[in-house]
Amino acid sequence: MNIKAFVFDAYGTLFDVFSVMEKCEELFPNNGEAISQSWRKKQLEYSYLRQMMGKYRPFSEVTRDALRYAVAETGQDLNAEDEEALLGAYKELEVYEEVPQVLKELKEQNVTVAIFSNGSHDMLDPLVAQSPLSDYIDHIISADDVKQYKPTPASYTHVIDSLKITRQDVLFMSSNGWDISGAANFGFNTAWINRKEQPVEELNLQPSSIYHDLTGLKNWK
Ligand code: LAC
Repeated sequence: MNIKAFVFDAYGTLFDVFSVMEKCEELFPNNGEAISQSWRKKQLEYSYLRQMMGKYRPFSEVTRDALRYAVAETGQDLNAEDEEALLGAYKELEVYEEVPQVLKELKEQNVTVAIFSNGSHDMLDPLVAQSPLSDYIDHIISADDVKQYKPTPASYTHVIDSLKITRQDVLFMSSNGWDISGAANFGFNTAWINRKEQPVEELNLQPSSIYHDLTGLKNWK
């Protein structure tokens, strides 16, 4: 299979969204884990709900809204300073340990390496720029460019339109089962990065391959 573009989801796949947990715990002692877990859950829920309701809002705003919910759920107040500090931490997420080396080796094979994320550019561009990945990412593609969230087919269409390739040319990686199912539904080759050893989603959409982390891509053929 001749893969022309390795396309990666950002949050949870390349970047560890729970690396903001420390900041959550610092600002809300004993509630850090609960807030960061609820924050991520609500962030995704709001993207699905807004897509279904036709009430699109950029992921940066959905992420702010989800943070407000997650803190309110603990019965605490979120002041403007702490809100900005936590949203700022989202632009400095850590990459998973194996990611820089895997992307470096991919670039040495002269393939296109891209990010496709629900994240808006005001989140993604600074996040990638401050990370050790900036030399390896050829394109940052955002669902916000077309105002269509993953897993809609319209969102994945933006990837092939942006890269001027066919869906068969793409290998799409995500740690999110719902996202890898959406990509498989669209017709991409898919590699589910199953970091949490979860079961395959019951959506009748089997990933092309399943790896525990990105090092599994070395076996891709
Ligand atoms: C992303 C989130 C939704 O699209 O994982 O990067």
